[in-house]
Amino acid sequence: MTDAEEFRVQRIERFDVDLEVPGDKSISHRVAMIAGLARGASNITGFLPSEDCLNTLNAMRACGVAHGVREEMLGFGPTSLRIEGRAMRLAAPSQPIDCGNSGTGMRLLAGLLAGQSFGSELFGDASLSGRPMGRITTPLREMGAEIETLGEKDGCAPLKIHPAVLTPIRYELPVASAQVKSAVLLAGLFCEGTTTVVQPATTRDHTERMFEAFGIRVVEDGNTISIDGGQVPVGRDFHVPGDISSAAFWVVAAAVRPGCRLVLRRVGLNPTRTAILDVIERMGATVVRKPVVDAVGEPYGDVEVHGADLQGTDLLPEEIPNLIDEIPVIAVASALASGRTRIRNARELRVKETDRIATTLEGLRAMGASVEEFDDGMEIEGGSLNGATVKSYGDHRIAMAFAMAGLHAAGETRVIGTACVRTSYPGFSHQLAAVQAGRTDAASFDLPIVPVAS
Ligand code: S3P
Repeated sequence: MTDAEEFRVQRIERFDVDLEVPGDKSISHRVAMIAGLARGASNITGFLPSEDCLNTLNAMRACGVAHGVREEMLGFGPTSLRIEGRAMRLAAPSQPIDCGNSGTGMRLLAGLLAGQSFGSELFGDASLSGRPMGRITTPLREMGAEIETLGEKDGCAPLKIHPAVLTPIRYELPVASAQVKSAVLLAGLFCEGTTTVVQPATTRDHTERMFEAFGIRVVEDGNTISIDGGQVPVGRDFHVPGDISSAAFWVVAAAVRPGCRLVLRRVGLNPTRTAILDVIERMGATVVRKPVVDAVGEPYGDVEVHGADLQGTDLLPEEIPNLIDEIPVIAVASALASGRTRIRNARELRVKETDRIATTLEGLRAMGASVEEFDDGMEIEGGSLNGATVKSYGDHRIAMAFAMAGLHAAGETRVIGTACVRTSYPGFSHQLAAVQAGRTDAASFDLPIVPVAS
């Protein structure tokens, strides 16, 4: 796919913004799957109508899970929908399933489909076809799954999944990955006995929380998580809060300059995802969290950020899984701070939608930052940025991180290749345009969500 869309971003003089970001991507994938497996219907609000999550919704539809739309984001897709669960009895898809750009979609669906009495095939775009799938095929094969990796690159998608009967395992994850943990736990639902996953560090716990919200018992002992197979989730109403990883772009835009202010409405505050707020605070910004006290399922609330002259920091090894998707935009904040920022123990960045160590540093260098590359991360000497032309390489988080850099760089910044933003953040360009126009009225940042006649 050639992506000729671009952002042209000028330095802003003021940033005083009140906005809500669309639903959380990780949670939306999971709710499409788990509500689809449930007995009975689930009404979902706040669903993220991004390409990644729509692919997962379509994948579930291909397995017989019907859904009706109640509200949608104009030009994108459903935000409010009713999912008719199939009580764990999925139907065989009639054709290969397109996972688009989404590692989460493909890896979790592979777990869900590995123990079925029918075969299936999962494929994705060029980026996804180059990402490692051995991390899920290894444990799933240990459970008895029969999965072929058909990609040109060894161990990569497309995945051809044959019918299989699985047996439970105890699996120690070699990498701290919520996707691998979730793939094994989803597969575990379809076998008899207890499946256990041991993670080397805490990773996002949305699967565990959602299992519990849908009535599936999960036993947790520190970083050891077990579930018994044969449980059937029970349909329920579920709200997906705003995505903290999408909010992170605006958090950084507000944090890096004194006088800037951001109010974020109804954003996810799951503690396995909020290290971005801790880091920005440590760098010197003021962050006020106002959690909703009676939130069920996933914690959420409003957050206020006041900008400052930031100082560089060292990211802690245990923080990395918690803020892995925010590192490109943290790198932008670091380039605009004073002093050095060290981001190490983050080799996983090399196997995201792009090699994010390479793509982040290429953009920062183009904008005049002083950076050093390591196999497992980067070090950035703070200073100022100059407008430049930066390529996203089709990576949504790189595109949005450099749009934020452009808001604080001298002159104009061109970000080339921005259609990819639709994989995680429908409505981003609309909100960016409102920021660029210096709007401060909250309504101009509202996402275009409209009811759908049923
Ligand atoms: C995700 C987990 C993370 C993250 C990805 C979404 C998830 O990947 O980078 O964007 O929803 O489970 P890993 O678990 O592979 O680190």
